[in-house]
Amino acid sequence: MIEVANRLHTVEEYYFSKKLREVNLLIANGKPIINLGIGSPDLPPPQEVVDAISKSLLETNAHKYQSYQGLPALREAMAAFYNTYFQVTLNSATDILPLMGSKEGIMHISMAYLNEGDKVLIPNPGYPTYQSVTRLLGAEPVFYELDESENWLPDLEALEKLDLSKVKLMWVNYPHMPTGAKATKTLFEDLVAFAKRHHILIVNDNPYSFILNDSQISILSIAGAKDVCLELNSLSKTFNMAGWRVGMVVGSSAHIDNILKVKSNMDSGMFYGIQKGAIEALKCSKSWFESLNEVYKERRDLVWQLAEALNCTYDKNACGLFVWAKLPPSIEAEAFIDTVLKNNDIFITPGTIFGSQGEGFIRFSLCATSESLREAISRVK
Ligand SMILES: Cc1ncc(COP(=O)(O)O)c(C=O)c1O
Repeated sequence: MIEVANRLHTVEEYYFSKKLREVNLLIANGKPIINLGIGSPDLPPPQEVVDAISKSLLETNAHKYQSYQGLPALREAMAAFYNTYFQVTLNSATDILPLMGSKEGIMHISMAYLNEGDKVLIPNPGYPTYQSVTRLLGAEPVFYELDESENWLPDLEALEKLDLSKVKLMWVNYPHMPTGAKATKTLFEDLVAFAKRHHILIVNDNPYSFILNDSQISILSIAGAKDVCLELNSLSKTFNMAGWRVGMVVGSSAHIDNILKVKSNMDSGMFYGIQKGAIEALKCSKSWFESLNEVYKERRDLVWQLAEALNCTYDKNACGLFVWAKLPPSIEAEAFIDTVLKNNDIFITPGTIFGSQGEGFIRFSLCATSESLREAISRVK
Protein backbone atom coordinates (compact mmCIF):
# COMPACT_ATOMS: atom_id res chain seq x y z
CA MET A 1 0.00 0.00 0.00
CA ILE A 2 1.50 3.35 -0.98
CA GLU A 3 0.96 6.00 1.67
CA VAL A 4 -0.93 9.06 0.44
CA ALA A 5 0.32 12.60 1.00
CA ASN A 6 -0.46 14.09 4.40
CA ARG A 7 -2.60 16.75 2.77
CA LEU A 8 -5.11 14.11 1.77
CA HIS A 9 -5.91 13.54 5.43
CA THR A 10 -7.02 17.17 5.73
CA VAL A 11 -10.05 16.84 3.43
CA GLU A 12 -12.89 14.47 2.69
CA GLU A 13 -14.44 13.55 -0.61
CA TYR A 14 -16.81 16.34 -1.73
CA TYR A 15 -20.28 15.92 -0.16
CA PHE A 16 -22.11 15.72 -3.50
CA SER A 17 -19.60 13.26 -4.88
CA LYS A 18 -20.55 10.88 -2.03
CA LYS A 19 -24.24 11.69 -1.60
CA LEU A 20 -25.05 11.54 -5.30
CA ARG A 21 -23.69 7.98 -5.37
CA GLU A 22 -26.33 7.11 -2.77
CA VAL A 23 -29.03 9.04 -4.67
CA ASN A 24 -28.03 7.43 -7.98
CA LEU A 25 -28.21 3.99 -6.39
CA LEU A 26 -31.78 4.74 -5.30
CA ILE A 27 -32.57 5.83 -8.87
CA ALA A 28 -30.98 2.66 -10.26
CA ASN A 29 -33.23 0.68 -7.92
CA GLY A 30 -36.26 2.32 -9.50
CA LYS A 31 -36.95 5.10 -6.97
CA PRO A 32 -38.50 8.17 -8.68
CA ILE A 33 -36.10 10.61 -7.05
CA ILE A 34 -36.62 14.33 -7.58
CA ASN A 35 -33.18 15.90 -7.23
CA LEU A 36 -33.29 19.38 -5.71
CA GLY A 37 -29.76 19.05 -4.40
CA ILE A 38 -27.17 20.34 -6.79
CA GLY A 39 -27.16 23.67 -8.66
CA SER A 40 -26.46 22.34 -12.13
CA PRO A 41 -28.60 24.30 -14.61
CA ASP A 42 -30.86 22.01 -16.62
CA LEU A 43 -31.80 24.66 -19.21
CA PRO A 44 -29.79 24.98 -22.45
CA PRO A 45 -27.30 27.79 -23.14
CA PRO A 46 -28.24 30.46 -25.70
CA GLN A 47 -28.58 28.99 -29.20
CA GLU A 48 -25.83 31.32 -30.55
CA VAL A 49 -23.43 29.67 -28.12
CA VAL A 50 -24.19 26.18 -29.35
CA ASP A 51 -23.97 27.38 -32.97
CA ALA A 52 -20.58 29.01 -32.29
CA ILE A 53 -18.99 25.87 -30.86
CA SER A 54 -20.42 23.75 -33.70
CA LYS A 55 -19.06 26.11 -36.34
CA SER A 56 -15.68 26.39 -34.63
CA LEU A 57 -15.02 22.67 -34.97
CA LEU A 58 -14.32 23.08 -38.67
CA GLU A 59 -11.72 25.80 -38.20
CA THR A 60 -8.12 24.75 -38.72
CA ASN A 61 -6.97 26.13 -35.36
CA ALA A 62 -9.73 24.45 -33.38
CA HIS A 63 -7.74 21.46 -32.20
CA LYS A 64 -4.42 23.03 -31.29
CA TYR A 65 -3.19 23.98 -27.86
CA GLN A 66 -4.63 27.37 -26.98
CA SER A 67 -3.13 30.43 -25.35
CA TYR A 68 -2.61 30.23 -21.58
CA GLN A 69 -4.46 33.52 -21.29
CA GLY A 70 -7.30 32.64 -23.63
CA LEU A 71 -8.19 34.24 -26.95
CA PRO A 72 -7.86 38.05 -26.97
CA ALA A 73 -11.48 38.16 -28.22
CA LEU A 74 -12.60 36.19 -25.15
CA ARG A 75 -10.85 38.57 -22.77
CA GLU A 76 -12.30 41.51 -24.70
CA ALA A 77 -15.79 40.02 -24.36
CA MET A 78 -15.19 39.53 -20.62
CA ALA A 79 -14.04 43.14 -20.25
CA ALA A 80 -17.10 44.39 -22.13
CA PHE A 81 -19.35 42.23 -19.93
CA TYR A 82 -17.82 43.74 -16.77
CA ASN A 83 -18.15 47.21 -18.20
CA THR A 84 -21.80 46.77 -19.19
CA TYR A 85 -23.12 44.99 -16.13
CA PHE A 86 -20.80 46.00 -13.28
CA GLN A 87 -19.53 49.41 -14.51
CA VAL A 88 -15.98 48.14 -13.94
CA THR A 89 -13.26 49.04 -16.45
CA LEU A 90 -10.78 46.23 -17.08
CA ASN A 91 -7.84 46.12 -19.42
CA SER A 92 -8.52 43.01 -21.46
CA ALA A 93 -4.80 42.44 -22.04
CA THR A 94 -3.77 42.46 -18.40
CA ASP A 95 -6.65 42.40 -15.90
CA ILE A 96 -8.48 39.21 -16.89
CA LEU A 97 -7.59 35.54 -16.80
CA PRO A 98 -10.14 33.11 -18.26
CA LEU A 99 -10.56 30.00 -16.13
CA MET A 100 -12.05 26.57 -16.58
CA GLY A 101 -14.83 27.45 -14.17
CA SER A 102 -14.41 29.64 -11.15
CA LYS A 103 -13.88 26.58 -8.91
CA GLU A 104 -10.39 26.04 -10.29
CA GLY A 105 -9.67 29.72 -9.63
CA ILE A 106 -10.09 29.09 -5.92
CA MET A 107 -7.16 26.66 -6.07
CA HIS A 108 -5.03 28.86 -8.36
CA ILE A 109 -5.47 31.98 -6.25
CA SER A 110 -4.75 30.02 -3.07
CA MET A 111 -1.63 28.48 -4.60
CA ALA A 112 -0.44 31.90 -5.71
CA TYR A 113 -0.84 33.53 -2.31
CA LEU A 114 -0.83 31.03 0.55
CA ASN A 115 2.08 29.55 2.44
CA GLU A 116 1.72 26.76 4.97
CA GLY A 117 0.47 28.19 8.23
CA ASP A 118 -1.14 31.28 6.68
CA LYS A 119 -4.69 31.94 7.80
CA VAL A 120 -7.70 32.38 5.56
CA LEU A 121 -11.04 33.99 6.46
CA ILE A 122 -13.85 31.78 5.20
CA PRO A 123 -17.63 32.33 5.44
CA ASN A 124 -19.73 29.97 7.56
CA PRO A 125 -22.05 29.03 5.94
CA GLY A 126 -20.17 29.05 2.64
CA TYR A 127 -19.07 27.14 -0.43
CA PRO A 128 -17.12 24.13 0.90
CA THR A 129 -14.27 24.48 -1.63
CA TYR A 130 -12.78 27.55 0.11
CA GLN A 131 -12.12 25.43 3.14
CA SER A 132 -10.88 22.28 1.43
CA VAL A 133 -8.46 24.14 -0.85
CA THR A 134 -7.11 26.06 2.16
CA ARG A 135 -6.49 22.80 4.03
CA LEU A 136 -4.96 21.06 1.00
CA LEU A 137 -2.33 23.82 0.93
CA GLY A 138 -1.53 23.51 4.63
CA ALA A 139 -3.07 26.88 5.43
CA GLU A 140 -5.56 27.37 8.23
CA PRO A 141 -9.24 28.26 7.79
CA VAL A 142 -10.59 30.89 10.18
CA PHE A 143 -14.35 30.82 9.86
CA TYR A 144 -16.34 34.02 10.14
CA GLU A 145 -19.92 33.42 11.06
CA LEU A 146 -22.76 34.78 8.99
CA ASP A 147 -26.06 35.01 10.76
CA GLU A 148 -29.66 35.26 9.69
CA SER A 149 -30.15 38.16 12.12
CA GLU A 150 -27.46 40.15 10.23
CA ASN A 151 -28.88 39.27 6.80
CA TRP A 152 -25.95 36.85 6.38
CA LEU A 153 -23.46 39.74 6.05
CA PRO A 154 -20.10 39.63 7.87
CA ASP A 155 -19.68 41.41 11.19
CA LEU A 156 -16.52 43.38 10.45
CA GLU A 157 -16.39 44.83 13.96
CA ALA A 158 -16.13 41.31 15.37
CA LEU A 159 -13.45 40.47 12.79
CA GLU A 160 -11.40 43.52 13.82
CA LYS A 161 -11.14 42.05 17.31
CA LEU A 162 -9.40 38.89 16.05
CA ASP A 163 -5.65 38.52 15.74
CA LEU A 164 -5.43 39.04 11.99
CA SER A 165 -1.64 39.11 11.75
CA LYS A 166 -1.42 35.77 9.93
CA VAL A 167 -4.49 36.27 7.75
CA LYS A 168 -3.50 36.51 4.10
CA LEU A 169 -6.71 35.89 2.22
CA MET A 170 -10.43 36.36 2.76
CA TRP A 171 -13.18 34.71 0.72
CA VAL A 172 -16.42 36.59 0.32
CA ASN A 173 -19.24 35.46 -1.92
CA TYR A 174 -22.04 37.88 -2.78
CA PRO A 175 -24.67 37.19 -3.89
CA HIS A 176 -24.13 34.56 -1.23
CA MET A 177 -24.46 30.84 -1.69
CA PRO A 178 -26.28 29.12 0.01
CA THR A 179 -28.38 31.90 1.59
CA GLY A 180 -29.05 34.16 -1.43
CA ALA A 181 -28.05 37.26 0.58
CA LYS A 182 -26.96 40.33 -1.41
CA ALA A 183 -24.06 42.62 -0.62
CA THR A 184 -24.50 46.34 -0.25
CA LYS A 185 -22.11 48.91 -1.67
CA THR A 186 -21.34 49.95 1.91
CA LEU A 187 -20.33 46.40 2.81
CA PHE A 188 -17.94 46.26 -0.13
CA GLU A 189 -16.50 49.68 0.80
CA ASP A 190 -15.99 48.48 4.36
CA LEU A 191 -14.37 45.28 3.12
CA VAL A 192 -11.93 47.16 0.89
CA ALA A 193 -10.94 49.40 3.83
CA PHE A 194 -10.61 46.32 6.07
CA ALA A 195 -8.38 44.59 3.50
CA LYS A 196 -6.14 47.65 3.21
CA ARG A 197 -5.86 48.05 6.98
CA HIS A 198 -4.81 44.45 7.50
CA HIS A 199 -2.96 43.65 4.22
CA ILE A 200 -5.43 40.95 3.28
CA LEU A 201 -6.32 39.92 -0.25
CA ILE A 202 -10.12 39.72 -0.55
CA VAL A 203 -11.65 37.61 -3.28
CA ASN A 204 -15.33 38.05 -4.07
CA ASP A 205 -16.68 34.90 -5.67
CA ASN A 206 -19.52 36.17 -7.81
CA PRO A 207 -21.21 33.46 -9.91
CA TYR A 208 -24.86 34.20 -8.97
CA SER A 209 -25.28 37.89 -9.86
CA PHE A 210 -27.69 37.35 -12.71
CA ILE A 211 -30.08 34.84 -11.18
CA LEU A 212 -33.25 36.42 -9.77
CA ASN A 213 -31.29 39.55 -8.98
CA ASP A 214 -32.01 43.01 -10.40
CA SER A 215 -28.84 44.87 -9.49
CA GLN A 216 -25.37 43.49 -10.09
CA ILE A 217 -22.47 44.74 -8.02
CA SER A 218 -18.79 43.90 -8.24
CA ILE A 219 -16.34 44.49 -5.41
CA LEU A 220 -14.03 45.96 -8.04
CA SER A 221 -16.45 48.87 -8.54
CA ILE A 222 -15.27 50.27 -5.20
CA ALA A 223 -12.53 52.92 -5.46
CA GLY A 224 -9.12 51.43 -4.70
CA ALA A 225 -10.44 47.85 -4.66
CA LYS A 226 -8.04 46.64 -7.32
CA ASP A 227 -5.12 47.06 -4.91
CA VAL A 228 -6.47 44.43 -2.53
CA CYS A 229 -9.32 42.57 -4.25
CA LEU A 230 -9.94 40.03 -6.94
CA GLU A 231 -13.23 38.80 -8.28
CA LEU A 232 -14.20 35.41 -9.66
CA ASN A 233 -17.03 35.12 -12.13
CA SER A 234 -18.50 32.28 -14.11
CA LEU A 235 -20.64 31.42 -17.11
CA SER A 236 -21.94 28.29 -15.39
CA LYS A 237 -25.18 29.68 -13.98
CA THR A 238 -25.45 32.93 -15.95
CA PHE A 239 -25.56 31.17 -19.31
CA ASN A 240 -26.39 27.57 -18.34
CA MET A 241 -22.87 26.47 -19.22
CA ALA A 242 -21.82 24.65 -16.05
CA GLY A 243 -20.43 21.64 -17.92
CA TRP A 244 -18.51 23.81 -20.38
CA ARG A 245 -16.25 25.00 -17.56
CA VAL A 246 -15.76 28.69 -18.27
CA GLY A 247 -15.11 31.35 -15.68
CA MET A 248 -12.71 34.21 -15.06
CA VAL A 249 -10.68 35.93 -12.44
CA VAL A 250 -10.42 39.70 -12.76
CA GLY A 251 -8.36 42.28 -10.92
CA SER A 252 -5.08 44.17 -11.13
CA SER A 253 -2.46 42.97 -13.61
CA ALA A 254 -0.03 42.30 -10.74
CA HIS A 255 -2.46 39.85 -9.11
CA ILE A 256 -3.46 38.29 -12.42
CA ASP A 257 0.22 37.72 -13.35
CA ASN A 258 0.77 35.80 -10.13
CA ILE A 259 -2.24 33.58 -10.78
CA LEU A 260 -1.11 33.00 -14.36
CA LYS A 261 2.23 31.79 -13.02
CA VAL A 262 0.38 28.98 -11.25
CA LYS A 263 -2.20 28.26 -13.91
CA SER A 264 0.17 28.17 -16.86
CA ASN A 265 2.00 25.35 -15.11
CA MET A 266 -1.18 23.34 -14.68
CA ASP A 267 -3.12 23.33 -17.96
CA SER A 268 -2.47 24.14 -21.56
CA GLY A 269 -5.31 26.43 -22.45
CA MET A 270 -9.06 26.15 -22.89
CA PHE A 271 -10.56 24.31 -25.85
CA TYR A 272 -11.01 26.72 -28.77
CA GLY A 273 -14.68 25.92 -29.40
CA ILE A 274 -15.57 26.56 -25.77
CA GLN A 275 -13.91 29.96 -25.97
CA LYS A 276 -15.83 30.78 -29.16
CA GLY A 277 -19.09 29.77 -27.47
CA ALA A 278 -18.23 31.81 -24.37
CA ILE A 279 -17.61 34.91 -26.51
CA GLU A 280 -21.13 34.62 -27.93
CA ALA A 281 -22.63 34.07 -24.48
CA LEU A 282 -20.98 37.17 -23.05
CA LYS A 283 -22.44 39.23 -25.89
CA CYS A 284 -26.05 38.26 -25.02
CA SER A 285 -28.49 41.09 -24.55
CA LYS A 286 -30.54 41.73 -21.40
CA SER A 287 -33.42 39.73 -22.86
CA TRP A 288 -31.41 36.54 -22.20
CA PHE A 289 -31.43 37.23 -18.47
CA GLU A 290 -35.11 38.20 -18.55
CA SER A 291 -36.19 34.97 -20.19
CA LEU A 292 -33.95 32.89 -17.92
CA ASN A 293 -35.33 34.57 -14.83
CA GLU A 294 -38.93 34.09 -15.93
CA VAL A 295 -38.35 30.35 -15.71
CA TYR A 296 -36.56 30.60 -12.37
CA LYS A 297 -39.29 32.86 -10.96
CA GLU A 298 -41.96 30.27 -11.70
CA ARG A 299 -39.81 27.54 -10.18
CA ARG A 300 -39.03 29.62 -7.12
CA ASP A 301 -42.76 30.16 -6.47
CA LEU A 302 -43.20 26.39 -6.54
CA VAL A 303 -40.19 25.81 -4.28
CA TRP A 304 -41.63 28.33 -1.83
CA GLN A 305 -44.84 26.25 -1.80
CA LEU A 306 -42.79 23.09 -1.26
CA ALA A 307 -40.89 24.73 1.58
CA GLU A 308 -44.16 25.75 3.19
CA ALA A 309 -45.51 22.21 2.81
CA LEU A 310 -42.41 21.07 4.71
CA ASN A 311 -43.13 23.68 7.44
CA CYS A 312 -40.09 25.76 6.53
CA THR A 313 -39.78 29.54 6.33
CA TYR A 314 -37.70 31.52 3.82
CA ASP A 315 -36.70 35.04 2.78
CA LYS A 316 -38.52 36.34 -0.28
CA ASN A 317 -35.82 38.97 -0.87
CA ALA A 318 -33.03 36.45 -1.38
CA CYS A 319 -31.60 35.92 -4.87
CA GLY A 320 -29.63 33.25 -6.72
CA LEU A 321 -30.18 29.71 -7.86
CA PHE A 322 -31.39 28.31 -4.54
CA VAL A 323 -34.02 28.74 -1.87
CA TRP A 324 -32.48 28.68 1.60
CA ALA A 325 -35.18 27.60 4.01
CA LYS A 326 -35.32 27.46 7.79
CA LEU A 327 -36.56 24.30 9.46
CA PRO A 328 -38.91 24.36 12.43
CA PRO A 329 -37.03 24.78 15.74
CA SER A 330 -34.81 21.91 16.93
CA ILE A 331 -35.05 19.88 13.72
CA GLU A 332 -31.64 18.77 12.47
CA ALA A 333 -30.96 19.36 8.79
CA GLU A 334 -29.26 16.05 7.91
CA ALA A 335 -31.86 13.90 9.68
CA PHE A 336 -34.58 15.97 8.00
CA ILE A 337 -33.27 15.59 4.45
CA ASP A 338 -32.74 11.86 4.97
CA THR A 339 -36.37 11.50 6.08
CA VAL A 340 -37.63 13.43 3.05
CA LEU A 341 -35.40 11.34 0.79
CA LYS A 342 -36.75 8.12 2.31
CA ASN A 343 -40.41 9.08 2.60
CA ASN A 344 -40.91 11.34 -0.42
CA ASP A 345 -38.06 10.45 -2.79
CA ILE A 346 -36.96 14.08 -2.83
CA PHE A 347 -33.30 15.01 -2.42
CA ILE A 348 -32.62 18.36 -0.73
CA THR A 349 -29.24 19.65 0.49
CA PRO A 350 -28.75 19.93 4.27
CA GLY A 351 -27.46 23.34 5.34
CA THR A 352 -24.74 21.73 7.45
CA ILE A 353 -22.58 20.90 4.44
CA PHE A 354 -21.92 24.65 4.22
CA GLY A 355 -20.77 24.88 7.85
CA SER A 356 -22.14 24.81 11.37
CA GLN A 357 -24.16 28.00 10.75
CA GLY A 358 -26.17 25.98 8.22
CA GLU A 359 -27.66 23.81 10.96
CA GLY A 360 -31.43 24.19 11.01
CA PHE A 361 -31.53 25.14 7.31
CA ILE A 362 -31.95 23.29 4.03
CA ARG A 363 -31.17 24.38 0.47
CA PHE A 364 -33.44 23.75 -2.51
CA SER A 365 -32.00 24.05 -6.01
CA LEU A 366 -34.06 25.72 -8.74
CA CYS A 367 -32.51 23.41 -11.34
CA ALA A 368 -35.59 21.20 -11.63
CA THR A 369 -38.58 21.53 -13.94
CA SER A 370 -41.87 23.02 -12.77
CA GLU A 371 -43.51 19.64 -13.40
CA SER A 372 -41.13 17.87 -11.04
CA LEU A 373 -41.61 20.62 -8.44
CA ARG A 374 -45.41 20.23 -8.65
CA GLU A 375 -44.92 16.48 -8.22
CA ALA A 376 -42.69 17.14 -5.17
CA ILE A 377 -45.36 19.39 -3.63
CA SER A 378 -48.07 16.78 -4.15
CA ARG A 379 -45.89 14.04 -2.62
CA VAL A 380 -45.29 16.11 0.49
CA LYS A 381 -48.91 17.21 0.81
C1 LIG B 1 -20.24 29.93 -4.46
C2 LIG B 1 -19.72 29.17 -5.62
N1 LIG B 1 -18.53 29.47 -6.13
C3 LIG B 1 -18.02 28.81 -7.17
C4 LIG B 1 -18.72 27.78 -7.77
C5 LIG B 1 -18.07 27.08 -8.92
O1 LIG B 1 -18.65 27.40 -10.12
P1 LIG B 1 -17.95 27.08 -11.52
O2 LIG B 1 -16.66 26.41 -11.24
O3 LIG B 1 -18.90 26.20 -12.24
O4 LIG B 1 -17.76 28.39 -12.16
C6 LIG B 1 -19.97 27.42 -7.29
C7 LIG B 1 -20.67 26.30 -7.91
O5 LIG B 1 -21.64 25.76 -7.48
C8 LIG B 1 -20.49 28.13 -6.18
O6 LIG B 1 -21.68 27.83 -5.66
